[in-house]
Amino acid sequence: MKIGIIGSGGREHAICSSLKNSNKINKLFCFPGNAGTEEIAENINIDLNDFESIKNFIINKKIDLVVVGPEQPLVDGLVDYLEKFKIKVFGPNKLASQLEGSKIFTKKLCEKYNIPTAKFGIFQNKKDAKTFLKNSNFPTVIKADNLAAGKGVYICNDEIESNIAVDEIFNGKFGDTKNLLIEEFLKGEEMSFFTIHDGKTFKNFETAQDHKRVLEGDKGKNTGGMGAYSPSRLINEKLKNKIINKIIKPTLKGLNHIGTEYKGFLYTGLMIVNNEPYLIEYNVRMGDPECQTILPKLKTSLSDIILACCEKKLNKINIEWLNKKSLCVVLCSKGYPDAYKKNEEIQNLSKIRIEENEFIFHAGTKKKNKKFYAVGGRVLNFVSISDDFSSAKEKVVSKLEKLNWNSGFYRKDIGYKVIK
Ligand code: AMP
Ligand code: GLY
Repeated sequence: MKIGIIGSGGREHAICSSLKNSNKINKLFCFPGNAGTEEIAENINIDLNDFESIKNFIINKKIDLVVVGPEQPLVDGLVDYLEKFKIKVFGPNKLASQLEGSKIFTKKLCEKYNIPTAKFGIFQNKKDAKTFLKNSNFPTVIKADNLAAGKGVYICNDEIESNIAVDEIFNGKFGDTKNLLIEEFLKGEEMSFFTIHDGKTFKNFETAQDHKRVLEGDKGKNTGGMGAYSPSRLINEKLKNKIINKIIKPTLKGLNHIGTEYKGFLYTGLMIVNNEPYLIEYNVRMGDPECQTILPKLKTSLSDIILACCEKKLNKINIEWLNKKSLCVVLCSKGYPDAYKKNEEIQNLSKIRIEENEFIFHAGTKKKNKKFYAVGGRVLNFVSISDDFSSAKEKVVSKLEKLNWNSGFYRKDIGYKVIK
C-alpha cells in the first residue's frame, strides 16, 4: 500500500515514522517533507496550495491513502477536493475545519450548545473594540479570527496593551482580519486532549501538555510549541468524561446539525479551572509537538487505525498504548519565534546514536550533500519514552548536549510541572 502525507513539520515526520512500522506499507510520499521524512519517504516538492498538482500526482502514483497533517490545507478544503476524485483521505472537510479556521464559528457553536468556554465579544472595527476595552477587566485576551499559525493571540494586562493588539490585528499583521474577539481570561492549567474520528465513532488519542511560550518559566512570546509531555498530569476518568460529554459530543452534534460530520484527528485545547474543562480552541489536526510526543507510545498500527477511520470502522479497532511517559524537547533556531538565520549547518546530527525508545523527529531541516541544514524556526524534536518523566527527560537532554548545536536553543525546563 502507498500512503501520501501532507506537511513538512515534526508532526509529519512522526506520522511517517509511525506508518513505516506497518508491514502493509511499501511506499510513503511526503508533500513536501523535510530531511527526516526523506530518510523514510519520497519527498515531493509540490506547493500545498496547488490542489490540482497534488491530485494528479496522487492519481499517477496510485497512492491509496492521503493523510493531511497541517491545518491550512484542511481549512482550504483539500479533503473535499481530493474526495471529489474518489481519493481516500484522512482529515476533516472544509466545513468541519471551521472549528479551527474560524474562532467565531466555534464560539457561536459553544453558545448554541452550551459548551463551557471563556465569555467573549466579537468586534468588527477598532473603535467598537477600544470602547469596550475602556470598561474591561484585565488581563483580557484578544484574538484575530483567522488562522494565524499559533500567533494572533494577545494576553493584555492593561488598556494600553490591548489597544496595541487591536491596532495590530486590524492593521493586518495576521492577514486580512474582519473580526476580532475579546475574551475573558481563564486562569487555570492548559491541557491538549486528542480524539480520532471516523464520522460516526470517535476514540481517545491520548493527552499532552505543551509549552507554548518561548522562554523558561512560561515567559516570553507564544510559539508553535517548545516541548511537551504525555500524558497530561491533569487527566483522570472524571475529567475525561466531562470533556467528552460537555465539549466534544455537543460539538459533533452541532456539526451534524449543519449537515456535516467529523473525520480526522481533533485537538481540543482546554483550560482546566478547578477540575472543570473550558474550551480554549479546537485544532482540526494533531498538535505539534504533541504528535511527536504521543505517537511513540502507540502500540496499535497507525495505518490500521487511519484506514478504519476512512471506512467508518473505527468501532472495530482497539487502540492500545504503551504504559509509559513521553517527553519531547524542541530545538529551535536562535531568534525564533522572531527572525532567525536560515541554512545554518547542524553538525553532529548524524553522529548521534538513537537507542530504543528514543526518537529524533525533524521539522525545519534540509539535507544537501549529506549535510543537514536548519531552514525553519523549529528544527528538531528530541523525544524519549520511559517509565517516568525524569528519566525520559535525562535521555532527551543527554542527546541534545551531544548535538551541541551553536545556532540553536531549547527550553531547559520542559516538563517542570511533572519533574521535581
Ligand atoms: P489559542 O491560539 O486560542 O490557543 O491561544 C493561544 C494561547 O493563548 C493558549 O494556548 C493559551 O495559553 C492562551 N489563551 C487563549 N485564550 C485564553 C483565555 N481565554 N484565557 C487564558 N489564556 C488564553
Ligand atoms: N502545539 C500547539 C499546536 O499544535 O497548535
